[in-house]
Amino acid sequence: MRHYSTIDRCIQSLDQAVRSLVPGATTAQRSNPAQGVESSLSIREARHVAGLMRVNHSGEVCAQALYHGQALTAKLPNVRREMEHAAIEEQDHLAWCEDRLKELDSLPSLLNPVWYGLSFAMGAIAGVAGDKYSLGFVAETERQVSLHLEDHIEQLPEQDERSRKILVQMNEDELKHRDTALDAGGVDLPKPVQITMNAISKLMTKTSYYI
Ligand SMILES: [Fe+2]
Ligand SMILES: [Fe+2]
Repeated sequence: MRHYSTIDRCIQSLDQAVRSLVPGATTAQRSNPAQGVESSLSIREARHVAGLMRVNHSGEVCAQALYHGQALTAKLPNVRREMEHAAIEEQDHLAWCEDRLKELDSLPSLLNPVWYGLSFAMGAIAGVAGDKYSLGFVAETERQVSLHLEDHIEQLPEQDERSRKILVQMNEDELKHRDTALDAGGVDLPKPVQITMNAISKLMTKTSYYI
């Protein structure tokens, strides 16, 4: 296996961050679940859905950062491949959310660099704490993401099949990611960590809806 120096790793991390944050820099490997589906929305509805999709997009930026931070510090000898597979599926989610935002004539959140930085640090710290915590952190994140996706699916206007198709597929993937992390030995995180994660995720959902 090739050995990477610290500088190589820093450049790689910076490259991953830029790819996650610059619109259009990530391409999906799977086709968009909304392909061939029609939805027409009023201006009011479109504005609300754009807010929801902006939150989901920020959530996917966090997922990218979490997996990147984890890959930097965690050992994950037996499950690295599974985690890399999950990270690739997260790129699909990011690209699909971005596509939908563009269709709704809207933009990703300006706060994404902040969420990326926080999630990267949390992922890297969890990796240092040990693989079972790192995997526990993935499982808890995916559980929380799935909860807010389910809430957003409920909030979509009935005729917005395009957004629904995307969010339903994402939710299915997130639950799979959670189970993979748990099966690989992820442990429940201490309550204060869960509460802090919940608080950050609430702050993110409340602000990214608007900016
Ligand atoms: Fe995702
Ligand atoms: Fe996920």
